[in-house]
Amino acid sequence: MGFNIRRKIITSLDHLKFRSLTTRYFFDRPTVKYHPLPFAGISDSKRAEGSITRMQKIQEFLQERKITDGFAMDCGCNVGYFSISLAQAGFNVFGIEEDARSLSIAYSAAQLANGLFSPLCMRITPNTARYLPEADVTLCLSIWHHWVKAYGIEETTDLLKTLFQKTHKVMFFDTGEHEMPENYNLPFQNKNPKDWLETYFKEALSASEVVWLGQHKAFAPGAKKDEFVMRSLFAVVK
Ligand SMILES: C[S@@+](CC[C@H](N)C(=O)[O-])C[C@H]1O[C@@H](n2cnc3c(N)ncnc32)[C@H](O)[C@@H]1O
Repeated sequence: MGFNIRRKIITSLDHLKFRSLTTRYFFDRPTVKYHPLPFAGISDSKRAEGSITRMQKIQEFLQERKITDGFAMDCGCNVGYFSISLAQAGFNVFGIEEDARSLSIAYSAAQLANGLFSPLCMRITPNTARYLPEADVTLCLSIWHHWVKAYGIEETTDLLKTLFQKTHKVMFFDTGEHEMPENYNLPFQNKNPKDWLETYFKEALSASEVVWLGQHKAFAPGAKKDEFVMRSLFAVVK
């Protein structure tokens, strides 16, 4: 069988895999819960707007600082919107995700988008973080609150320090703020999360610069599609 025919069959199989992972009855419209996947025709997921505005700010920052290629690591990449966007912009991306189904969707969407995306299915913990690869750019988006809930603030700070040590240029960060339930044990108390986090990055990570990239739409656990909150996005520079 010729190379081109094989290639076409493989591409068709990628489409079939993506469809089978993202549709209920196979012939209906593909949907995913959290991210938009414009590369695969999905635009109206729950955190579509806040993901697109975050990605725009991240891309603007990278362009301003002339960081246009190299390796990126996306911690908790979910179905891959940020990973695939960075891959399309020229980065070689590691997408780390503990949820195998979300990661499968990310991988098959990346195949359709022709992005350099390496999926790694693992749970990032204070112990496993040291086995992660090094990267020029690290994304730590809306995952820190999960770590604080699971491991407490001290171990999470150690985990974040490990990630920042592995980051050569910049780490992008946002997290659940006052909207998160008490059992997440977030450390903000009655302080403004933006101020608390800026001090945290400087003191715990010895970041040379912390740049606030505005507030972006997110939602609290259990919120309906149109009930949103705003979360601060930061570039934490090495
Ligand atoms: C709230 S979503 C955020 C997704 C994406 N980073 C964003 O900001 O749009 C958190 C993601 O991190 C994943 N996750 C949570 N804890 C994790 C862990 N310890 N290791 C790896 N993935 C984790 C979840 O499965 C989920 O896909």
